[in-house]
Amino acid sequence: MKSISAIVYTSNTGYTQRYAAMLGRAAGLPVHRLGDAALPRGTAVVYLGWLCAGGIKGLKKARSHYNVQAVCAVGMAPASPEYASKLSGQNRLKGAPLFYLQGGYSPARLTGIYRPMMALMGKVVSRAPAESERERAMQEAFSKGGDWVSEAQLAPVLEWLQV
Ligand SMILES: Cc1cc2nc3c(=O)[nH]c(=O)nc-3n(C[C@H](O)[C@H](O)[C@H](O)COP(=O)(O)O)c2cc1C
Repeated sequence: MKSISAIVYTSNTGYTQRYAAMLGRAAGLPVHRLGDAALPRGTAVVYLGWLCAGGIKGLKKARSHYNVQAVCAVGMAPASPEYASKLSGQNRLKGAPLFYLQGGYSPARLTGIYRPMMALMGKVVSRAPAESERERAMQEAFSKGGDWVSEAQLAPVLEWLQV
């Protein structure tokens, strides 16, 4: 087992929190919301954050407090190796592995600026003709919402952790 001491996460509508709890249970590690003061600085952690316009929420702050050894990005887009590698480049992971987990989308749970942002993105996505199964899935996700959280998606993370 890798020497990770905790799971730390940031979640807005609850999907990342569910993955963090599942991962903590499966790996036998404590789970903390980023910003709760319970962990000493420099603790080796796996960080999970939700995706906001390609950026992993809270990653910068997590890195400034902890030794982030691996990162899970939780988004609404269907998983694909291309998307994971794009996110990995965009978020400058400095060698830490990135795992993409498809979370969920609940427009009713959004507050503040996120609601109009997603309404706009939904319009843009649904106006363009879907040219692939992936684009069709994104249009449906925007129009209906969805919950894609599953234990199975954590398998590569657990494998990396060697639990
Ligand atoms: C403003 C905004 C931007 C988003 N950008 C992305 C994105 O770039 N890629 C993606 O896959 N999902 C994106 N999403 C969807 C969320 O990442 C997804 O709903 C995630 O499961 C939310 O996790 P949470 O419930 O822990 O907050 C975005 C959501 C919002 C509100």
